[in-house]
This record gives sequence, C-alpha cells and structure tokens, in this order.
Amino acid sequence: MLEFDYRNVKAEIVGEENGLNLEEAFNNFNDKIARIISDLNSKKDKPGQWLQWMNLGYSEETVWLVKEYAAMTQGLFDNVLVLGIGGSALGGMAVCEALLQPYWNLLSEEQRNNFPRIFFLDNVDPDQINGLLNILDLKKTLVNVITKSGSTAETMSQFMILKNRLQEELGDNYVRHIVATTDKNSGILRQISNEEGYKTFVIPDDVGGRFSVFSAVGLLPFALVGIDIEELVQGVKDMDLALKNTDIWHNIAAQNALIHYLMDTQKGKNLSVMMPYSTRLKYVADWFVQLWAESLGKEKDNDGNIVHIGPTPIKALGATDQHSQIQLYNEGPNNKLINFIRVKEFDTTLEIPKIFEFTGIGYLGGNTFNSLINAEADATKVALVDYQRPNVTITLEKVNPYNIGQLLYMLEVQTAIIGELYNINTFNQPGVEQAKNYTYALMGRAGYEESAAMLKEKMA
Ligand code: PA5
Repeated sequence: MLEFDYRNVKAEIVGEENGLNLEEAFNNFNDKIARIISDLNSKKDKPGQWLQWMNLGYSEETVWLVKEYAAMTQGLFDNVLVLGIGGSALGGMAVCEALLQPYWNLLSEEQRNNFPRIFFLDNVDPDQINGLLNILDLKKTLVNVITKSGSTAETMSQFMILKNRLQEELGDNYVRHIVATTDKNSGILRQISNEEGYKTFVIPDDVGGRFSVFSAVGLLPFALVGIDIEELVQGVKDMDLALKNTDIWHNIAAQNALIHYLMDTQKGKNLSVMMPYSTRLKYVADWFVQLWAESLGKEKDNDGNIVHIGPTPIKALGATDQHSQIQLYNEGPNNKLINFIRVKEFDTTLEIPKIFEFTGIGYLGGNTFNSLINAEADATKVALVDYQRPNVTITLEKVNPYNIGQLLYMLEVQTAIIGELYNINTFNQPGVEQAKNYTYALMGRAGYEESAAMLKEKMA
C-alpha cells in the first residue's frame, strides 16, 4: 500500500492560521465521508453516473483482449504512435514515462526486449508533427488513434494526416497499421473504423477521458510496449478495495480529499501543487493537473448556484523545481498545499564518486543520488514547515506497475470525493465546450456558420 503522511497540515505543526485540527475534522466529517464513499460505490453501476471508471480494475476481458492483440502484433512494429489529447493522452504518457526504462525510444531493439518505441502526439503543432513524421518509418509503425467522442479536432486532424501517409506508403495494407480506441457505437471515428475495417478497442460507457487510463485507452499502448498490465490493474483493484473503507481514519483518498477541501474553504489555500521527487513521475503531475482542473473547476454547484469553485493544480518536479518554484512557495503568498510524492527505493543505486574531497563539494562524495534526492525532499518539507506552509506526502515503495496502478487510482477516487464535498459535478466539462465550438466555427464546420460570423466580427 501507498503511505500517506499528513502530519504537516496539522495546526500544531504549521500554526493555527495555516493548519487544521485534523482529529476534530476527521471526526466531524466521518459520517459525511462515509455517505460519499457508500454513494459512489452504490451508484457506480448506474448508467449516466460516469462512475464506470471504478470498475476498470475488474475488467478481465479488456486485459485479455489487449494482451491478445499485443501478442499478435509483437515483432511487427518498431514504433507505436498514439494520437489523442487530454484524457486520451495524459494517462498513457504518465504511465509510460513512469514504467518504461528512461530514454526508452533511444534504446536498441535488444535493450527494449523487442518491444516497440512509443510516441504520443497530443498537440496540433505543425512543426512537431512534421518533425516526428520525418523520423518515423511508417512501414514499421502502428498508429493507435484514441478519442472517446470520435470527433476531437486535434486528434482527428492528426489522424487524417497519418491515414493518408500510411495509405501512400502501404497501399491497402495500411489498415493493419491502425488501431482505434473509441466509443462502441457512436462518433465519427467509430463510423470510419467500421467502414475501413480497422481493429478497434472500446472505451466503455460512462468513463470520461480523464478517468480512462485503466481502460483500453491506456492498457493497449502499455501492453504493446511490454508493461505488465496485470500488475497495474492488480494495484488498481487492491486500492479500490482499500478505498471502499468508509472510515476516514483508514481511507487515504478521503483523507487527502478532505484536507484539500478544508484547506481551500477554511484556510484560503486553493492552489494544489503536485511535486514528485522522481523524474519518472513527472507526467503523473501533468495527468493529475488535468484530472483536478477539469473535474473540479466548475461554475455551478449541483443545486444550480453560481460558485466558481476549484482548487488550481500546479505541477512541479523535485528536486528540479526547488530551483524554480520553491522560493515562491516558501516566501510568497501562503495559499498552497504541496503534495510531495516520494519514492523509497529506486531501481538503481548510484554512488557519487569520492573526488574533490578537500573542496566545498567533498561532502557529496561517497553518498548516493538516492539519498540525495530524498534528502532534498525531506529538507524542502522541513523548510516549508519552517515557513508554516502545509504539505502532505505520498510515499511509494518503488516505481512499479502495481504501485503506479495504486497511485493513479487513489488520485482518481480522491478527486471524486472532493467533488462531492464541493457538491459539484466532477465528471462534466462544460467550460471546455465553448472554445471547442468556436474552433469548429473558425475552421468552417457545417452548422457553425452563425458562430463563425459572430467570431469574425469580434476578432476584427
Ligand atoms: O477528460 C476529458 O473528458 C477530456 O480531457 C477528453 O479526454 C479530451 O477532450 C479528449 O476527448 P476525446 O477523447 O473525445 O477525443
């Protein structure tokens, strides 16, 4: 299990003004939290609740189908290219960065155990796309296009380029180089896939993009590059069982959700910093930022009141961002809650050579990078406490599939619980639609003519 340390949010540690009386808070909210957890678990199978992500750890069929396809295609491709954006890309990037050997795409085939390289395109920057197409041998590339709606402009425009290029290079055989992950019935990508005969995987109903990492959205690319997806989902399952505990004293997702909620609503700390001390977890922070921002940034609550709610998530990387952001966190406005992620055991033990012994850096020699990075995390925590800045720490024994499954799932449940505390709809994103529709209008999509005329006027 992950360890969760909330000592540094207590009033006796960071002072009354900035800290919480946690014992009282946990006791006061225990019944409410218990209701929330029971509700989430009892509603999860009801259509329209968008809680099917809570079942993804139990979908043996998906694991089986994905593994079967990965086995069938092993050795056929040197590259996997994932097309997607937002929830259709960030989980994949976070898990691959965490679980593949660092610099995976630069390793030899042998070093990769014959598994392919993996690339994610999650933007529509022409230079980036062109740059990637210049280096990819499409004859040896499998394209996994991922979109739940099947019509996202960024993803589908990338796909249109790739489809054309593949067809030019491979003729009719191009179909075998495409695998689509999308809704089972609806959307343009589903329609195209059926017509063209692409292999497809399904994003289940009632699973939103940012909660989809343990569906085929993530599992397929992970299996293709040899990540142990059974271990990953085992971590999800075990965490799910642990988080069914309705007693806040024994539920780390509920604890961190309540801490964030109270810090925001009672202590004016509505910025939430996610700061792993492991470069492999760098994109976990990116994934978390989207999960937190799209889920919790809402104009209205469930009763229709205008609330403009939502803690702002910020990504940081330890120790790198100690030299970038920590000055602000220590001395700037005391409006943040810092979430450290710490790793106990790294895969490698790397010793710093005992050289320059009689200089000011001599003390480093003989130590390890392992102790250095964790000493930096500890030192930063203590310094934050000196400045009365609250912080929590999640500790992973190791970065491995099981623990990553646990960590991401715990953060998903934490998000669902805090959404209930705020009394908002965690699973919609109406604020994203406006700009999406304006883009359609500006790009000439039929049905958006009026909008286009209005925009032209505004932009003139
Ligand atoms: O979390 C979400 O729902 C969004 O970030 C979507 O994942 C993102 O907009 C991409 O949508 P789609 O998968 O439909 O292309």
